[in-house]
Amino acid sequence: MRARMYGLVKRTPLGPYVNNCPPIRIGPERLYVWTHALMQTGQVPGSVVEVGCSLGGTAMWCDRMLRQSSVHKEYVAIDTFTGFVPEQFNADVALGTPSRLRRTFDYISLPAVRRSAQKMGAPDIRFIQGDICRMSAEQLPRQISACLVDVDLSQPVHAALTKVYPRLAPGGVIVVDDCPEGDDYKARIGYQRFVAEQGLEERYVLGMGVVTEPAADIDFGRLGA
Ligand SMILES: C[S@@+](CC[C@H](N)C(=O)[O-])C[C@H]1O[C@@H](n2cnc3c(N)ncnc32)[C@H](O)[C@@H]1O
Repeated sequence: MRARMYGLVKRTPLGPYVNNCPPIRIGPERLYVWTHALMQTGQVPGSVVEVGCSLGGTAMWCDRMLRQSSVHKEYVAIDTFTGFVPEQFNADVALGTPSRLRRTFDYISLPAVRRSAQKMGAPDIRFIQGDICRMSAEQLPRQISACLVDVDLSQPVHAALTKVYPRLAPGGVIVVDDCPEGDDYKARIGYQRFVAEQGLEERYVLGMGVVTEPAADIDFGRLGA
C-alpha cells in the first residue's frame, strides 16, 4: 500500500521533491561560504567532513561538486539521525534557545538518507551515525582538509571543533554555521569558547565562525561578518 502511494506521488508534480531532492538545510549565502572553502582547499590533503548533515542535501550537492571539479576526496557526513540530544538542547534552552525548536530534526532516517545519496549520484559519501560529543575522535578521518560544523547547539559545536581541529591539514579550514549575534541557536557560544581556549582570533563570514589552520590561505574576499 505504502509503495503504491509512493508510486502515485512520484507521478505527480510532487515527484521530484519526494524522489530525488533532499533539502539543503543551510542558508544560500552560507552554502556559498562552504562551497568556496571546499574549492579553495581542493589541493589540501585530507577528507571533507560535515558534522550535522541532516537529510544530506548539502553533503550530496558538495560531494558531486568536488567530483565534477576533479577533486577526489572522501566526504564524511555525521549526524545523530535522531535530532538533538535532549541534555544538549536543554543546556541551550537555558541560554535562550526557544523550546519549540526541540524537535526540528527528529524525523530523519539514515536508511532513507543513504537511498537519496544513491539516487542523487553521491553514493560514496560515508555516513556515520553518532553524537559528536560522545563519539571517539578516532572515528574521524585522520586528516581533514575542510569541515562544516552544522549542529546548531553550543555543546556539540564545541565538541566538533575540539575533535576536528587537531586533524586539520596544513591549509585546512573549518566553518561553523549559525554564528550571528543574537541567533536562536547558540552555536556562537560553542565557537567562542573553543577559540578562546585555543588563543585563536574570532572571525565571522556571513554568519559563520571560521577556524583556519595557521598555514591556510583562504580568501573570503570582501564578504562581511
Ligand atoms: C541544521 S541541521 C544540518 C543541516 C545540514 N548541514 C544541511 O546543510 O543540510 C543540524 C543537524 O545537526 C544534528 N545534530 C545535532 N546535535 C548533534 C550531535 N550532538 N551530534 C551529531 N549531530 C547532531 C541534527 O540531528 C540535525 O540533523
